Amino acid sequence: MESSITLHVDGQWRTLTVDTRTTLLDALRERLGLTSPKKGCDHGQCGSCTVLLDGRRATTCLALAVAHDGARITTADGLAEGAEPHPVQRAFLDRDAFQCGYCTPGQICSAVGMLEEAKAGWPSHATRDLAGPAPDLDDAEIRERMSGNLCRCGAYVNIVAAIRQVAR
Ligand code: FES
Ligand code: FES
Repeated sequence: MESSITLHVDGQWRTLTVDTRTTLLDALRERLGLTSPKKGCDHGQCGSCTVLLDGRRATTCLALAVAHDGARITTADGLAEGAEPHPVQRAFLDRDAFQCGYCTPGQICSAVGMLEEAKAGWPSHATRDLAGPAPDLDDAEIRERMSGNLCRCGAYVNIVAAIRQVAR
């Protein structure tokens, strides 16, 4: 069975017809030609397919495209303001947080999402004072909040440093 859906992706409305079993990741990559969200595990375990879905980070390999008709999606490609990189993208460059770069778009989207979550006062498993104000993003908080994103190259030290730079 097929269904017509419209997605707002990186600033543009896109309409496409998809098999109702199509994941959001396949719709973005295979149908719309966006290569920024990566297919790593295809099982929700690595985070390389992460985008911002209606402002919140989501693993697109676990989402059905038809369930998100009308959604607003930002991939790592859509974070920059014109030629100006997003502060998280700038920090990844400053801190040399790339290696092979396969996981990097998902890491960057996830970092943008988790910084907003922390700013809104959402606790994580590492938050000690649940009744306190917005949690201080120390390394333990950053690691916990980014734990859904795996990097096969072990670039975590620089990724944590890049996120810490923006969190300050
Ligand atoms: S490809 Fe989606 S979490 Fe790994
Ligand atoms: S930079 Fe290579 S998998 Fe993360």
